[in-house]
Amino acid sequence: MNEGFRLLPRSASTFAPQVDGVYFFHLAVAAFFTLLILVLVIYFSLRYSRKRNRHPQNVEASNTIEIAFIVALFFLTMVMGAWGTRIYIDEYVVPQGAMEIHVIAKQWMWKTQHPEGQREINALHIPIGRPIRLVMNSQDVIHSFFIPAFRVKRDVVPGRYNEMWFQATTPGDYHLFCAEYCGSNHSAMIGTITVMEPAAYQRWLAGTSADEPPVRSGEKLFAQFACNTCHGQRAPTLAGMYGRKVTLDTGQTLIAGDPYIRESILNPSAKIVAGFPPIMPTYQGQITEEQLMNLMTYIKTLKDASTQPTQ
Ligand code: CUA
Repeated sequence: MNEGFRLLPRSASTFAPQVDGVYFFHLAVAAFFTLLILVLVIYFSLRYSRKRNRHPQNVEASNTIEIAFIVALFFLTMVMGAWGTRIYIDEYVVPQGAMEIHVIAKQWMWKTQHPEGQREINALHIPIGRPIRLVMNSQDVIHSFFIPAFRVKRDVVPGRYNEMWFQATTPGDYHLFCAEYCGSNHSAMIGTITVMEPAAYQRWLAGTSADEPPVRSGEKLFAQFACNTCHGQRAPTLAGMYGRKVTLDTGQTLIAGDPYIRESILNPSAKIVAGFPPIMPTYQGQITEEQLMNLMTYIKTLKDASTQPTQ
């Protein structure tokens, strides 16, 4: 990874060429106008210098030129805006079926876990050619997960899940940085992203001792906390609930996504589903961030008409 000085980081994800494209376009536009203005300043200061004793005529501004200039600049800035927005949306909309990896940040390390259970610290092995979705959470302060070679960066915030996705294109080792000042060892909160061919990745998975997969840990917690005793009977059924519209007792509706489920586990009385009594106890302080992530992973797998009794 010792690359010496580079003007741009290496390019190793499907986003990288797109981001570089829009970046160079902005750079070219800025360079063009900077040069144009510089040349004109020099030209006019020579042409109308005191020595030459030449005075500019008063000119009437031509409306046509003014309007043409405004319209041209309008379209130029619209192109810049639309191009950047497209990439922004691409980076925010996670494709279906992406491989989900859990990331927990703490002062001062990155802990990652694969869907098969393998854990890593300050490291992450991933295959090329497959969308990878990171579900990230911080145990203490705000950190930021930054992989320059992929041109992706997202804050990792305590108390909420932030997602990020990418698809790697080139095998190799790449830098992982924390990009948010998070205390005295912030600069040491770094790691390595190892991008592998799919077959090599499978070998790596097979040769690395796996902990319990997150979804299994979640299932155990679900049993341990006996979520089933109420959910499906005196409390709303959880099967098929994820991503669905929920009506609250206040009449409001919301989509049951990660933030809502998380809040309902930690602070159940905040939003009560219409027609149910507020009987759920809080699990604040009884469950770690990692357990919460695992529990949610399991809850998301509960489909309609599965083990859950429906009401
Ligand atoms: Cu973590 Cu800076």
